[in-house]
Amino acid sequence: MKFSDFGTKFVEHCGIRQLMDDLGNAMRHGQDIMMLGGGNPAYIPAVQQRFRQAMGHILERGDRFEHMIGDYDAPQGNADFVRALVNLFNRHYDWGLGPENIAITNGSQHAFFLLFNLFGGLRQGQNRRILLPMTPEYIGYSDLGLSEQLFTARKPNIVHGEDRFFKYHIDPSQLNVDQDTAAICVSRPTNPTGNVLTNAEVRILSDLAKKHGLPLIIDNAYGMPFPSIIFDDVSPVWEPHIVLSMSLSKLGLPGVRTGIVIANKTIINAITNLNAVLALSIGSIGPTLACDLIESGEILTLSQQVIRPFYQQRAEQAVRWVDEAMGDCPCLIHQPEGAIFLWLWFPDLPISCQALYERLKQRNVLVIPGHHFFPGLEEQWQHRHECIRITYSQDPEMVKQGIRIISEEVKRAYDEASVDWPSRRSL
Ligand SMILES: Cc1ncc(COP(=O)(O)O)c(C=O)c1O
Repeated sequence: MKFSDFGTKFVEHCGIRQLMDDLGNAMRHGQDIMMLGGGNPAYIPAVQQRFRQAMGHILERGDRFEHMIGDYDAPQGNADFVRALVNLFNRHYDWGLGPENIAITNGSQHAFFLLFNLFGGLRQGQNRRILLPMTPEYIGYSDLGLSEQLFTARKPNIVHGEDRFFKYHIDPSQLNVDQDTAAICVSRPTNPTGNVLTNAEVRILSDLAKKHGLPLIIDNAYGMPFPSIIFDDVSPVWEPHIVLSMSLSKLGLPGVRTGIVIANKTIINAITNLNAVLALSIGSIGPTLACDLIESGEILTLSQQVIRPFYQQRAEQAVRWVDEAMGDCPCLIHQPEGAIFLWLWFPDLPISCQALYERLKQRNVLVIPGHHFFPGLEEQWQHRHECIRITYSQDPEMVKQGIRIISEEVKRAYDEASVDWPSRRSL
């Protein structure tokens, strides 16, 4: 049996598959496993109750259920859902969208596969790449390219804040765009760090993209206006050269696999064609379930009054636990500005974060070692072996216990190497 080049890529090791398998196993058999590794959103009772009610309406009212399970939707996605989204965005942001500016996909991960390969890869013999202007960046992008070396990435500037906090910023001096740049992509809020690019940073990227005739892809899976897991008020942006990707997953609906792409009509047309080729049509359950909430705008109040405060409280609690558990141990925390993760940096960690991951796994704590989050970064940088990502979306007691065990293992690593812990302030 001989696989094609395309096939070989998927027969070999696939990082995101490993991650999702670990996540799925831990969620299924997870009594003893402290799952601080995955990106599963929390079960928020008030949100789950609202979606249960929405499903009740679908079952009870007329023939909506029969249409939901019995019809192929158009490859662009459910027309009522698209219309409701267009109205919502125009009402709130005045973007002047029409239905030709939105396509639905089977999850936003799927949308990224389409977008990256629509722009990146071979064009007239030249390999064109997606520029990630700031790593760490979302691990799920890593394996999406059908061509080799799909990404080129840049290091951030690091700005130290008060106490243990630091924040990554885009380094504008490194943002050189050349002939092989196909598109620019950022997640905002960023998975894994919880960073939210400032409005000024977004403006820099947007201007750069516009100047060079490139699309700027903004991954808004955690952002505004829903699920709104962003702790400061920032506005989403859209212009015809911007591709805004959204998702229903982090509202608490990862099981329905619904992604939303907002873009100019040429891009939407290409995605619609790809949807038809790859899947005929897009799943109807997510769009049918969320349609009324989008139409009425209730999705915004649910996001801003329930989902955002829930995660903000969880983030603050997790920071307190890290601070207490780490004591004087050198552990810095990326300023949590959104998403559902804490990004921890252990400066001069004497073992790699992969070795730390292994030690934690032995103690039933699953985290994600930081080096996975630098797709496309070619230069050596010790920093990427000194960080881990933990999620605070799961059971608080489990998160607290997991953090305690992380602190024990990190302290052990520094002790074994007889590292004199630098004082926090000098870091
Ligand atoms: C930043 C980011 N983008 C995209 C996705 C993909 O989400 P989904 O395919 O569930 O919409 C995720 C999932 O965790 C994510 O964290």
